[in-house]
Amino acid sequence: MAILMCRPEYFGIEYEINPWMNVAVEVNHVRAVEQWDALHSVYTELGESIALTSPQSGLPDMVFTANAAVVWRRRAVLSRFHHAERAGEERHWRGALEELDFVIHEMPADISFEGAGDALFVGDHLFQAWGFRTDLPAHSEVARFLDVESTSLQLVDPRFYHLDTCFCPLDDHSALIAPDAFAPESVELVRARVPRLLEVPREVAEGFACNAMPLRGRVISSTAVEAIRAPLADAGFEVVSLPVDEFMKSGGGVRCLSLPLDLGLD
Ligand code: ARG
Repeated sequence: MAILMCRPEYFGIEYEINPWMNVAVEVNHVRAVEQWDALHSVYTELGESIALTSPQSGLPDMVFTANAAVVWRRRAVLSRFHHAERAGEERHWRGALEELDFVIHEMPADISFEGAGDALFVGDHLFQAWGFRTDLPAHSEVARFLDVESTSLQLVDPRFYHLDTCFCPLDDHSALIAPDAFAPESVELVRARVPRLLEVPREVAEGFACNAMPLRGRVISSTAVEAIRAPLADAGFEVVSLPVDEFMKSGGGVRCLSLPLDLGLD
């Protein structure tokens, strides 16, 4: 699999657009680079190829490549960021995805959509979230362009403002979910479609455990994932935990730093 990443060269907390961000908290740049490098090494040691996009000064959140777009087969729906602070990223993501030969679709100007942060596949079924960063009308637009079936889920807790902070597909029939982050009816919609749901307690999800990347039988995530090592082992997954606390200061973990590019091609 190929994964899109962006070095944390200009990463920092320069504004506050989610409850985790506090401009008074400084990012330790050396540690951020070490943590990012460690994730990059895990991917390459597992045989993944990494596509790198160029970091841009003044766009501190570009390190979170999950928010570039949602991709499926060779198509990509570009993000239209909810906050003006991130809007400057859009043209860079377009350039990066064009270079990777994706056919690109743009959201109408008045509809917010934040890419794979709010759109995750279980098999070929797309789960999309609304409530904080992505507007509900984005979902049908995405489903139509990617030609996939989609289920809309409502997020209700501002700390879990993107779907990938509280939900993580593990394979075609299993996923991690932090039920507290969703409207109760939305949890039922997931339950009806995904036979094996591993429920993650709120405190564990707050450590960005669900912000994980499943890869070759492993679940790569923040150190908080250690708390669910046993249930994951029972489900057949080995945990790989990494410190990503410098990125958690911005409200992101392992998955936010990674955009899988080969979805739907296997
Ligand atoms: N500071 C970033 C923001 O608030 C973090 C993005 C995290 N990305 C994600 N896919 N959850 O937009």
